[in-house]
Amino acid sequence: MEKFVINGGHALRGEVRISGAKNAAVAILPAVMLADSPCIIENLPDISDVAAILRVMQELGAIVRPINKTSVEIDPCHINSYVVSKEMAEGMRASSYFLGALLGRLNRARVAPPGGCNFGVRPIDQHIKGFEALGAKMTIENGMVDGKAMQLKGASVYLDIVSVGATINIMLAAAKARGLTVIENAAREPHIVDLANFLNSMGANIMGAGTSVIKIRGVESLHGTTYSIIPDQIEAGTYMVAAAATGGDVMITNVTPKHLESIIAKLKETGAEITEYDEAVRVVMNTRPKKCNVKTMPHPGFPTDMQPQIATLLTVADGTSIVTEGVWDSRFRYVDQLTLMGADVQVDGKMAVITGVKCLNSAPVKAVDLRAGAAMIIAGLMAEGETQIEDIIHIDRGYENIVEKFSALGADIKRVPIIDNNIIYKQA
Ligand code: EPU
Repeated sequence: MEKFVINGGHALRGEVRISGAKNAAVAILPAVMLADSPCIIENLPDISDVAAILRVMQELGAIVRPINKTSVEIDPCHINSYVVSKEMAEGMRASSYFLGALLGRLNRARVAPPGGCNFGVRPIDQHIKGFEALGAKMTIENGMVDGKAMQLKGASVYLDIVSVGATINIMLAAAKARGLTVIENAAREPHIVDLANFLNSMGANIMGAGTSVIKIRGVESLHGTTYSIIPDQIEAGTYMVAAAATGGDVMITNVTPKHLESIIAKLKETGAEITEYDEAVRVVMNTRPKKCNVKTMPHPGFPTDMQPQIATLLTVADGTSIVTEGVWDSRFRYVDQLTLMGADVQVDGKMAVITGVKCLNSAPVKAVDLRAGAAMIIAGLMAEGETQIEDIIHIDRGYENIVEKFSALGADIKRVPIIDNNIIYKQA
């Protein structure tokens, strides 16, 4: 086991390059399984969630050949298993995408329910409803989600809730189904558009991705392709907030500014000066942050995956801010950790009332989930003195080279082994 040790109080300055998008990668990799020839995927983030997906694909029979740190060639032709066991899916939310991809390829799937970040019940009823509409028989047996079909057939699916995962899974299952599938009330996140672009580059016929009605006309077969994943909106947002929180001046490169609009708007409200370039944004903060209210919503609203980070910035704002979580039932577990650092935050259900304090104090804290972990790093960078963050395994799921990237911006952050009773734990 390892922890991060941060000596805070330094303004971040310089340039940071954003990696490929985690949530696009974890959808596009399973989608490769629909092809009947090899694909090359570029701009993959080097994170443990991607490694976990690639491992599962290999166990299912795909041949995975790394080309370099960010590109991989995958030959899905020999996929011969439809079972993703609990051990294979451990800790991975995106395991559910194997349901759509395997149903789409083999008309058969048995997949352990998803793990991943723990912020309340994480149902997949809308995914199941979509597969059933396409003609699959879905059951849950012995803790495994099982699906089988003779031939998937296009259908209209209205999602009762805007779900990223259900939208992606239905696209995966429908790409080669017979006839037209229409997803109404679809999610509109950038990674949904990226998945549609990827599938279309393999020969699929998908229209409307990025709007709330997606039409998928099934095709007979999909061929291999070479595809580069979009930049990570949330990684970019995390560095933007960190720059503002430390009173810094940071150029964040390899981004799509259009995907960052809601984050830019909220940071401007807090007093940050933001300049947009074609593929970069510069964030400069010269004042104490101003209070600001934030409500998370599906895209194009403010992303829930940026909620802990912006809330952390607001702990030192001048005034009282209200942060409302509009996507997940429970995503304020990290607040206890911020309180240890002197933050004044009262949570009432899906709402947090944050009364700005002058500064945070350093303290030993934990990363309770991926984005909460990123927020703890931001808190540590803001606080005077040494902050230690444990359970960083969550952070490594989704942020490539986070220590190196923050260090290059002038942060004093180190990854160190946890030493306990003379045993040194180091993460594999
Ligand atoms: N929901 C249902 N039924 C379903 C599916 C979802 O009720 O069948 C509910 C959920 O409980 C939640 C809401 O719908 O309240 C939205 O869930 P969604 O399905 O959109 O989330 P997801 O697909 O499980 C993805 C991201 C999350 C991100 C959410 C929302 C991936 C791998 N994960 O999860 O990212 O928070 O969309 O934008 O794409 C992260 O990256 O840290 C992360 C947790």
